[in-house]
Amino acid sequence: MTTTTGFDIRRVGGRIGAEILGVDVSQDLDPRIVSEINAALVEHKALFFRNQRLDDAAQLRFATLFGPLTGAHPTVPSVEGQPQVLPVDGDEGVRSNHWHTDVTFVRTPPKATTLRSLVVPPYGGNTLIANTAAAYRDLPEPLREFADRLRAVHTNDHDYAEPRSEKAAEHRRRFVSTRYRTEHPVVRVHPESGERGLFIGGFAQSLVGLSASESRDILRILQSYVTRPENVVRWTWAPGDLVLFDNRITQHYAPDDYGDLPRLLHRVTVAGDVPVGTDGRGSTVIEGDEAPHYTPAAA
Ligand SMILES: [Fe+2]
Repeated sequence: MTTTTGFDIRRVGGRIGAEILGVDVSQDLDPRIVSEINAALVEHKALFFRNQRLDDAAQLRFATLFGPLTGAHPTVPSVEGQPQVLPVDGDEGVRSNHWHTDVTFVRTPPKATTLRSLVVPPYGGNTLIANTAAAYRDLPEPLREFADRLRAVHTNDHDYAEPRSEKAAEHRRRFVSTRYRTEHPVVRVHPESGERGLFIGGFAQSLVGLSASESRDILRILQSYVTRPENVVRWTWAPGDLVLFDNRITQHYAPDDYGDLPRLLHRVTVAGDVPVGTDGRGSTVIEGDEAPHYTPAAA
């Protein structure tokens, strides 16, 4: 247990994730506490706050402490009357059981994601979060040097599995209603810590200069380091939990293991900057725009 001036930190996984104890995030937080939470976020990459029982307004207020917010999503409708809140509702066919970093198909994906549990199933429905910097450090040196030079094309219109219900098909249609393709560095330098992390995940479709099958094979090898159990923390939701993760240096996955049981989270994301690779080159738009309707980070 680490004690800071304002709260206690209890690590959850060996390489990622920590629970923050003794902070009521619905209160006005002292700027010193906010900067300590941000430092804990940069170090642990995923933070868990139990028993917060926030409403949308309080979740929005908390997320704003870390920067300007994005809209709910570039293509998916928000919660009614809350343009910056995305419903993550298992009943709407939203089953994020693929490893991904949020919204990497746009040029400036969110810096951080907050998730708040409204309804949780009695079992299953956990969230897995992976440390992509630990994955990068795990790579053998020749692979690390190879990855440093790669660029990947991310898109929202990748080869999804056949939707299993009409609701899932409808969600998919909305998801890809505007097509985005963006080129990002495969190794991203974290703007606050300088740490290098693999920046790939489910929306990364191909590698620049390589064939489709070469891309698939190399992405699969790199991704296997991200999803190593050592690099992953698993969060078992209770109602009222708030989770904050650094979307610049993590991937996450929601196992689809709760059948027809209800599960509802609300997501609010903090706008991010342009990812930068080890050579200092930033990301570039290939198709679609910079999504200015979605993120204030769009130039
Ligand atoms: Fe996600």
